[in-house]
Amino acid sequence: MDRKTFMKQSSLAGLAGIVGGKIPSNEPKKSSHSMLNDHIRIGFIGTGLRGRNHVNNILDHPKVQCVAICDIDPDAIERAQQIIESKGQKKPTVYQEHEQSYLDMLNDEKLDAVVIATNWRWHTPISLAAMEAGVYVGVEVSGAFSVDECWELVRCHERTGTHLMFLENVNYRRDVMAVLNMVKDNVFGELVHYRGGYQHDLRTVKFNDGSGGLLYGEGAYGEARWRTAHSLHRNAELYPTHGLGPIGAWMDMNRGNRITSVASHATKARSLKHFAKNHPTGGPNHPYATTEWALGDIVTSTLTTARGETIILTHDTNLPRPYSLGFRIQGVQGLAEFDYHTQRVHIEGISEGHRWDAGSEWFAKYDHPLWKEFGEEAANSGHGGMDFFLDRAFIEGVRREQAPVIDVYDGATLRVITPLSERSIAEGGHPQEVPDFTQGAWMHRKPIFGIGDL
Ligand SMILES: NC(=O)c1ccc[n+]([C@@H]2O[C@H](COP(=O)([O-])OP(=O)(O)OC[C@H]3O[C@@H](n4cnc5c(N)ncnc54)[C@H](O)[C@@H]3O)[C@@H](O)[C@H]2O)c1
Repeated sequence: MDRKTFMKQSSLAGLAGIVGGKIPSNEPKKSSHSMLNDHIRIGFIGTGLRGRNHVNNILDHPKVQCVAICDIDPDAIERAQQIIESKGQKKPTVYQEHEQSYLDMLNDEKLDAVVIATNWRWHTPISLAAMEAGVYVGVEVSGAFSVDECWELVRCHERTGTHLMFLENVNYRRDVMAVLNMVKDNVFGELVHYRGGYQHDLRTVKFNDGSGGLLYGEGAYGEARWRTAHSLHRNAELYPTHGLGPIGAWMDMNRGNRITSVASHATKARSLKHFAKNHPTGGPNHPYATTEWALGDIVTSTLTTARGETIILTHDTNLPRPYSLGFRIQGVQGLAEFDYHTQRVHIEGISEGHRWDAGSEWFAKYDHPLWKEFGEEAANSGHGGMDFFLDRAFIEGVRREQAPVIDVYDGATLRVITPLSERSIAEGGHPQEVPDFTQGAWMHRKPIFGIGDL
């Protein structure tokens, strides 16, 4: 037995022990077929709203076969099956018995890749089990629960050699990629500051019984089944990655630069109570109107980087407001502030006086080559087209058996902000050190996101 196989078996045995599942077989899972010529065999774990987006996009790729799906909700399984059938694929094997059925799936199937789109609770255990089984992982976005779990993912990747792509789709947004192009062309000059965040009114997502009523937890609909509990129990930057992922690409995160610290503050938590009190099915005595919610309505985090830049991240999901990730990037020659509703750029010496230029003109000029090539194809993929690029990068990474463009080190760095911000808020805003998950390699790793054809 070689070292890798031994390590894989011991770790899987350990994992199965922890979660009470069946120990996967001793057969190495890594297939010998040629990934580029054959179809890659994929499994989907978590086929809720987001998981089905991935099923829909990924099965449009001519070289992908879905062999298995896993979810504990029969409705989610049924809906995923309908999509798979509509793509002309054979019925996949279904794993749906219990929350650890993914272990049976990893054990029984010869998989090349899995997409994990469960609730946040399961991202790390399933990613670890899949990497141990030699299956290339694509895992949806979330914040971590602990610093340790981020290290576990990194160590597991290093021990097994199995890749993990962190599926941050906003990195592929057309404006975000145009700005990346501007950064590469040094339009802003040396960079000093970035802003972003998750500013999305989730009140009707957090309270949703499926027909407009107030409910979360068991019996609720969609993310209200699990996401709301985080607002009840955790005061933290709960969802850092949509804001920080793009900033990570602009600042060369883990590739010449790195995030060094985070300090967070939270406002009082008022808005969920207010919402329940004034909801047609709520009222002043409704239990949700008197609940002490932990999550401050706005959480503001200041991050520092090794190159001496700062980043302000905002988490704002309880208050009434239009959706905005509120991006800003600023260097010694100028800045861009942009989102769907505003796009403005000022570059010294080019923009008139202290005026803004229309961002759309700059972004059209710097449209990323990937968007120029695939923009039309991407149009129907979801989230304005960015999901097409994300799923394409994942599948092509698997087929080429190469490291993903948003890798396990990036995933660990983006996710670790959540537990560190939680600790910082609890300590009155005290800055927390962000671990160097690359263990020094950031100093010589070269930027890859948006540079090659993925
Ligand atoms: N990138 C984006 O644009 C985007 C958009 C929406 C959601 N998300 C992320 O995608 C993930 C899923 O979100 P969603 O909106 O699809 O939630 P959802 O509740 O609709 O789906 C989650 C699914 O996971 C299943 N599940 C839970 N535990 C499981 C387990 N142990 N094994 C197998 N299946 C299990 C549930 O039954 C459910 O069907 C989250 O991380 C969320 O933050 C990302």
